[in-house]
Amino acid sequence: MTSLNDVARALVAPGKGILAADESSGTIKKRFDSIGVESTEDRRRAYREMLFTTAGAEGNISGVILFDETIRQQASDGRSLVQVLDDTGIIPGIKVDKGTTPLASAPGELVTDGLDGLRARLVEYRELGAKFAKWRAVIDIGDGLPSSYCIDVNAHALARYAALCQDEGIVPIVEPEVLMDGDHSIDRCSVVTTDTLHAVFDALLAQRVQLDGMLLKPNMVIAGKQNRAGKASPDHVGAATIACFRDVVPAAVPGIVFLSGGQSDEEATANLDAINKLGPHPWNVSFSYGRALQAAALSAWQGDDANAAAGQKAFLHRARMNGLARDGKWTPDAEKAAG
Ligand code: 13P
Repeated sequence: MTSLNDVARALVAPGKGILAADESSGTIKKRFDSIGVESTEDRRRAYREMLFTTAGAEGNISGVILFDETIRQQASDGRSLVQVLDDTGIIPGIKVDKGTTPLASAPGELVTDGLDGLRARLVEYRELGAKFAKWRAVIDIGDGLPSSYCIDVNAHALARYAALCQDEGIVPIVEPEVLMDGDHSIDRCSVVTTDTLHAVFDALLAQRVQLDGMLLKPNMVIAGKQNRAGKASPDHVGAATIACFRDVVPAAVPGIVFLSGGQSDEEATANLDAINKLGPHPWNVSFSYGRALQAAALSAWQGDDANAAAGQKAFLHRARMNGLARDGKWTPDAEKAAG
């Protein structure tokens, strides 16, 4: 029988990382709006089929996070999209949180919904083929924010979710995202990320989560988008990120898979590469990107099946570049050569 640890380690195998294709209905509509395409069930299905049938992607993509609608959809050849992934050796996963909602008595702060009925949904998703799951909590940096109340409540929910997943034989990806919106410095991001991760690991341990059967999906330590000092260099991001994680993330965790969070495609690759060039680290350090793996493919596709080959080429290129970065082997030249 495959253990939680086997699945977690397979998701962070050398040269590989995760595609986050679990945009909720609202988020995928925003993505489609950006290319002027109406978000219908058929177009969402066609777009995801294009990504999942990209020949060669399995060389750099270990798993895909699906949305509830997608895990129930079929490819044009009649196979379920889950079967398509299974047949290619890519592990299917599922987003199980129900998005964010305003946190009571905490103006401007959010908590993630979805614990009610979660065990029953996990059982169903497991039957549909999901081997791992994702839950995203959002921490915003602002004037006097985040509150420790917001961090603690979100950490508690992440741990409840993770414990339930493991009880049902599903590997939890624990995602506390400190947003890069705002004008905060990289140092402020480091402090808030450290506080958040402390609270998350305290909650995970208190709730008996098996650390070697989960993955952590955090933000990198990075300046806010509107920070006056501008973007920090990849070397700076790498050093700040690793300093923070070495302090807080137990070595028992098999992998850290970063979200891209609004970084440009190449920035997300260069920063991941810089982090891995500082290795070896106690954990595997890889990616679980949504936008930074999909933006080029989405724009090449334009909602038209006739452009599927162009979309797949763009996706494969980003998958390869991030596969190199996951091993600290990326160079700007590799980007040009393969582009
Ligand atoms: P981004 O890489 O676009 O931030 O998405 C990753 C993700 O899954 C956020 O929950």
